[in-house]
Amino acid sequence: MHGDKYIAKTLFGLEEILAREIESLGGTDVQPLNRAVSFNGDQTTLYRINYCSRLALRVIKPFLQFRAHNETVFYKRMRRYNWDQLFGLEQTFKINSVVHSSQFSHSRYMALKAKDAILDVFRLKKNGQRPNIDLEDPDMIIDVHCSGLDFTISLDSTGESLHRRGYRKKNRPAPLNEVLAAGMVMMSGWNSSIPLLDPMCGSGTILLEALMIAKAIPPRRNRLRYAFMNWNNFDRELWSQVRRSAILDQKEERVELAGFEIDARRAKETQAVIREMGFQGSVKVRSVNFFDEDPPFTTGMIISNPPYGKRMAQDAIESFYRELGDTLKNKYMGWSAWILSGNKTAIKSLGLKTSQRRMLYNGAIECKYHFYELYAGSRKTIGSIT
Ligand SMILES: C[S@@+](CC[C@H](N)C(=O)[O-])C[C@H]1O[C@@H](n2cnc3c(N)ncnc32)[C@H](O)[C@@H]1O
Repeated sequence: MHGDKYIAKTLFGLEEILAREIESLGGTDVQPLNRAVSFNGDQTTLYRINYCSRLALRVIKPFLQFRAHNETVFYKRMRRYNWDQLFGLEQTFKINSVVHSSQFSHSRYMALKAKDAILDVFRLKKNGQRPNIDLEDPDMIIDVHCSGLDFTISLDSTGESLHRRGYRKKNRPAPLNEVLAAGMVMMSGWNSSIPLLDPMCGSGTILLEALMIAKAIPPRRNRLRYAFMNWNNFDRELWSQVRRSAILDQKEERVELAGFEIDARRAKETQAVIREMGFQGSVKVRSVNFFDEDPPFTTGMIISNPPYGKRMAQDAIESFYRELGDTLKNKYMGWSAWILSGNKTAIKSLGLKTSQRRMLYNGAIECKYHFYELYAGSRKTIGSIT
């Protein structure tokens, strides 16, 4: 074992591939947990994961663990820690708390107790002076996690969630979380030699993540601020080296990526984002109806999350999925397709045999991610084409 212990948080279902990604970025003793992965690493690994991971949402460093049976014991244990060695009076802080416990039911209350203990330590040691709280843009983020009677206190190394890549325009309807989109691409077996189509691409998240994976572009290439920069051991030179070497590792890969989007305005906005990122040569998005259009490549892979029908009647969404299935059967023989859907009934209307199925969450919606190999035998009932 070398370095310190860290925990990278992620979305449900991505733990195993995040574990592999962390190993590839230098983490050791990597263990998948629930919506998280624990690992050991040095500072280089911590910086590299914050800059290069496509699947982590944030990385935290646990530094204090204890059991507490009630709030008074919790406060006392928190007061025993030398908080003034972790950060200074001039730095601001904030506490995030997550509580899974029948004994401690209010996470906000535990955050308040933790704050009181920290401020009391400062007041005592610094002649009554104390650091300020900043809920918007704090220097230090302290994570309080409670499971039953067990508390883990960690320092958040990330700050703003890592799913923010910097390309997303604000207020777009129902875009996929970037971490989920990257996970869908990474678990699909897709690589840059396979033409990729998202036939209902919306903001183009799947295509943009695939492009950055193929070209090994750091997902937060231009992000300048991370919470670890406020830690008292921050090594600016090491951080610059990590950044430089990730930029140098980018590849001049030729990729064929296409998107269809029926909503002309949305397609236009996605095209604009692609142009801003300088990717117009690699990703072609067209405003067309998938059902009327011919395939953009002779063969390839489809990765998509079609509408789940939240705003449509069930029979309308079932006939939509039937048409989707028929289009795949009629025009995409020889292709493979990964479809994410949060509508269990509708997905059956595709009329295709799935050869793999994974459970994922799109926000709070439980989804199934289905794999279809579109060869002649993949129809559920031979001759069922309508
Ligand atoms: C759930 S959203 C996809 C979100 C996308 N993955 C993103 O990250 O923004 C589904 C998209 O499919 C589009 N769509 C619906 N029917 C379509 C069709 N027949 N052809 C092409 N696009 C369609 C919708 O306009 C919507 O933008």
